[in-house]
Amino acid sequence: MREFMQNIEKDFEKSPIVDFKWHAIEMGLAIIQRCAFGKHEPLGENQYLKTVFKVFDFEEVCGSWLDSFFAATHDFVKFTHYLYIGTFLTNSTLDERDKERIEGKNINRQPDFLDYLRDSEVDPAEIMDKQKSTLDTKVQKNLTREELQAQCIMFLIAGSDTTANATQYCLYELAKHPEEQEKVFEEIELNINGEEEITYTTMQSMRQLDWFIKETLRHHPLVQTTNGIARRAMENTTIGNGIRVDKNVCVAPNILSIHFDKTLWGEDADEFHPDRFSPEESEGRHPMAWLPFGAGPRICVGMRFAMQEVKMALIYVLMKYKLEMAPEFQLNSFGLVIIKPDSLKLQLVERK
Ligand code: HEM
Repeated sequence: MREFMQNIEKDFEKSPIVDFKWHAIEMGLAIIQRCAFGKHEPLGENQYLKTVFKVFDFEEVCGSWLDSFFAATHDFVKFTHYLYIGTFLTNSTLDERDKERIEGKNINRQPDFLDYLRDSEVDPAEIMDKQKSTLDTKVQKNLTREELQAQCIMFLIAGSDTTANATQYCLYELAKHPEEQEKVFEEIELNINGEEEITYTTMQSMRQLDWFIKETLRHHPLVQTTNGIARRAMENTTIGNGIRVDKNVCVAPNILSIHFDKTLWGEDADEFHPDRFSPEESEGRHPMAWLPFGAGPRICVGMRFAMQEVKMALIYVLMKYKLEMAPEFQLNSFGLVIIKPDSLKLQLVERK
């Protein structure tokens, strides 16, 4: 976070209007890279990851890598390179960790996701043997090396762009709603004392900040589209007012419509009102009215992690700057699987 702020400060020295887009992307990428790959590189210095990350900006050929697979091969080739690099990175990190364990190095290093995942690693032969002997068809809780790699790549794909974009939308809404920005800032001032380390517990107590992020994600659910959180019916069933869904049919909620549905959110559904997430105003609301992270057993596993990351970024920015809308800036969002701003220029005023 300090590096993220240093880069913003460098831009601010040149101009009070700062584009946050790449700063947020670098931050999201660096955090996941550290947690899922154990790679600690300075922000923005991992050039090849940055290049492949652009694949998700879908600037070329057509809408998405999946569409491209059918329409043209260009993006798809880039995407497979991305997976290849992801596999290479994970492999090299896993090898380093193996060495670490054997040689007893880095024992005092801070543990990360990779350490926890490695604790569940087993030899695939062991799983096969167990399954053969007990005829156990339950899913094993252990991971083979291949599964471990796949999890790391999944974290990188699902956990970097998403948080970066959520952070950008929050910064935009803070600038757009100065009165809400003031409420969040007052809460920060009340809870954080200058140089102090920002802890998980401190962030937990900051309710206004939490409601602010939730309201932003209601207005800007990053995953809005059918392929984002679709589900396949495992058997013939009937949902809602007698709608029949046959086995194997995919059903996807229209998240944007749900997030602005007046029957769920009240007459002020179109307004930006973070306090609607307060316990008093949330009472009796349908549990699936708010879906930026999906729902049910396959809800986003990184939800809490992402919320902490966004909170931390907002705290750091707000402690240093007041955010204002930059003249003539217009927010444009694009993307198919993940909706994102194409740039985010904000005017900064340094706080005393
Ligand atoms: C603001 C940030 C984020 C948003 C809006 C978001 C959104 C989502 C959504 C909508 C889903 C699909 C859930 C469903 O089908 O019900 C999902 C799944 C997933 N997310 Fe996130 N996510 C975010 C951050 C993260 C982070 C930081 C990580 C990793 C640390 C992560 C890892 C995953 C994984 C692994 C899945 C697949 C879960 C499964 O299929 O069981 N996400 N996310």
